Amino acid sequence: MKTISIQEAMKKGKGEVSIHGWVYRERGSSQLKFIVLRDSTNIIQCVIKKEDVGDKQFGIADKIQVETSMEITGTIKEDKRAPTGYELQVKDFKLIGNSDSFPITKDQSVEFLADNRHLWLRSRKMTSILKIRSTVFGAIDEYFKTNGFYEYHSPSLTATAGEEGSTQFKVNYFGKPMFLTQTWQLYAEAGIFALEKIYTIAPSFRAEKSKTSRHLTEYWHAEMEMAWSKFDDIINHGEALIKFVVDKVLKNNKEDLKIIERDPKKLEPVLKKKFPRMTYDEALEILDKKCKMKVAWGKDLRTIEEDNLSKLYDTPIIVTHYPKKVKAFYMKEDDKNPEVVLGTDFIAPEGYGEIIGGSQREEDPEKLLAMIKEKGEDPSAYGWYLDLRKYGSVPHGGFGFGVERVISWICGLDNIKDAIPFPRTMLRTTP
Ligand code: 4AD
Ligand code: MG
Repeated sequence: MKTISIQEAMKKGKGEVSIHGWVYRERGSSQLKFIVLRDSTNIIQCVIKKEDVGDKQFGIADKIQVETSMEITGTIKEDKRAPTGYELQVKDFKLIGNSDSFPITKDQSVEFLADNRHLWLRSRKMTSILKIRSTVFGAIDEYFKTNGFYEYHSPSLTATAGEEGSTQFKVNYFGKPMFLTQTWQLYAEAGIFALEKIYTIAPSFRAEKSKTSRHLTEYWHAEMEMAWSKFDDIINHGEALIKFVVDKVLKNNKEDLKIIERDPKKLEPVLKKKFPRMTYDEALEILDKKCKMKVAWGKDLRTIEEDNLSKLYDTPIIVTHYPKKVKAFYMKEDDKNPEVVLGTDFIAPEGYGEIIGGSQREEDPEKLLAMIKEKGEDPSAYGWYLDLRKYGSVPHGGFGFGVERVISWICGLDNIKDAIPFPRTMLRTTP
């Protein structure tokens, strides 16, 4: 009999079905064996009775361990007492792959689970997070495609810094130094002269020595860049993208949110409300008045300030017009105030930190060159980038959206490491 998924079998609800999967739980007696079988779609309780399958088969069933893979044929029926409301009376089964005694049992330490990440991925919690992750990637793609953006790719090996020179991973490239990319942005700025509106979803690398719950050294970065843009266009796309992604997860992953115990009500304001927008100056005022935190003008907002600010709202907030000296060299100076740039950070609610960083880009080659020098970079390495301002430069800008940061917030995770199958951090490189 052709196998169907556990979810399909439950939808059918009665009659004979064949399913396959892995043993999630097992217990039994001399006459009866209960197996909870798991596949990617769900779990279901299966009952093997000695009288139904015969002595020989029952002897095999008795030795089944957690994570054994098997095919089962039987009669499905509703059963309120079963974990997912259905039970399968087993007529026949076949073992596909035996399992050793599975190392992951209840209540294991975070370290142990990280060391056994290759096996922990099968847990219901990780399975649900990975499904939400899949929705998020699909939604980003759909958002940009339906808004007229082309998918475009930058190299992952670069000769220059995209963001900050101090957080680049150096690679030995045939004896010469190269770097793992921190952002697709600079090469994207070349791409807009051909395609005008572009996006990517690709890994970015940051040699950040931070051991926080929101930093990965390798993370997935959804970035967009558009020609002829105003600063507001960039911000509006950022807001619309977040709303689109959250909406998709709320629609497609109800069960998963339940499994990971994330209350969807925490996310609903994101769809209903316009995100508060404030300048850096206004943010300092709010921090002073509502959080009793004094920040000297010109200092970047640190995690603690972002967290306090974000706790005042139930949607992401959009901070703009940061001091020039705390932001990247390519951000456009504000015409009205040369001390600040048309740069923005989106800060997630509940203390999940910065989820989007973006800006209008500096078009003036002189100002750009001065900033490259001021940030201690070698201008000769940026010759090709400066060229982009020489041949028909146009107003343009874009942003980067930290995919794992967003997943972490959507899922309400304690640590960003659970937002990616195999996290890379300063201290974690295996498995
Ligand atoms: O703010 P960032 O550094 O901006 C850029 O890289 C721009 N070049 C993007 C652009 O305009 N095209 O990074 C963008 C986002 C951050 O807001 C954050 O969400 C995420 O990338 N991010 C990280 N996520 C996980 N681990 C890290 N170490 C991250 N560093 C940045
Ligand atoms: Mg940033």
